[in-house]
Amino acid sequence: MISFTVNGRPAAVAVPDAKPLLDTLRDDLGLTGAKECCGKGECGSCTVLMDGEPVCACLVFTAQARGVEIITVEGIGGGPEQLDPIQAAFVAEGAAQCGYCTPGFIVAARALLDKNPHPTAAEIRRGLAGNLCRCTGYQKILQAVAKAAEGRAD
Ligand code: FES
Ligand code: FES
Repeated sequence: MISFTVNGRPAAVAVPDAKPLLDTLRDDLGLTGAKECCGKGECGSCTVLMDGEPVCACLVFTAQARGVEIITVEGIGGGPEQLDPIQAAFVAEGAAQCGYCTPGFIVAARALLDKNPHPTAAEIRRGLAGNLCRCTGYQKILQAVAKAAEGRAD
């Protein structure tokens, strides 16, 4: 049994140590927010926080999560009625198109703003450099994160 905390709640799963954490989250814990796109650490669509650090969950063995705190996109904000400022800014800026990359960007942006609440445009670009989007051309995503950093959700 591998035990850890997910979105503030204890979780215990009986899975092989080497099962990718992304698969465990999605298949065994029903947390399907993190997406698999490349499956090899190149796109960031599977980003989750491990003890506050963004990681590609497709590259993490479930056993590596033993005893740590995992936050997925489901643990950011309080649901549709209580969006995190980053989620609200993504909506306001139209920063999601197909939405496949969006959970990864939201998690990566949350990690960035938790460490650096007022990043420059260059720091936002750098902070999100591990996340790819095939639809938006990035501009609206960068604007949304800047808006969230400014504390504007309009
Ligand atoms: S699916 Fe994990 S980095 Fe692309
Ligand atoms: S919105 Fe489609 S990949 Fe980013």
